[in-house]
Amino acid sequence: MSLINLVEFNSLGDERGQLVALEELRNIPFAIKRVYYLVDTKSDVARGFHAHHDLEQVAVCVSGKCRMILDDGQHREEVWLDSPCKGLRIGKLIWREMHDFSADCVLLVLASEYYQEADYIRDYGDFLRLKANAGNP
Ligand code: TYD
Repeated sequence: MSLINLVEFNSLGDERGQLVALEELRNIPFAIKRVYYLVDTKSDVARGFHAHHDLEQVAVCVSGKCRMILDDGQHREEVWLDSPCKGLRIGKLIWREMHDFSADCVLLVLASEYYQEADYIRDYGDFLRLKANAGNP
């Protein structure tokens, strides 16, 4: 099964431009406790490099694009987030990296939990050990 689980958002655009609506438990598959966004990320900077114990997220580039890598400890897959209508679901215990941010990139992330540093797994070796102990995948 692919790690790349995309959600297509309808654009309610008309001649005035595009409008995209995100609604919890409708086109966002969880109750939204937190929204954050990454802006002004330098093109030679990569971010992420962590997984979460218990967090669901949907990421969407509302402007510009970036390359997202997902890794479940056995497989790595990548996808370009390059449309305000293309959301990427990221489940728990998935390592993620973001690369190649365009200058105009605004990466919006919807999250199922409040920020909690204890939920992060920031060491790739720890992540692999955890996945192995949990019976990968
Ligand atoms: P971090 O998760 O390291 O960013 P990324 O994974 O995108 O590279 O977060 C950077 C800093 O911001 C770190 O000190 C944690 C803090 N932070 C919050 O306080 N709240 C949040 O919702 C997020 C995502 C990060």
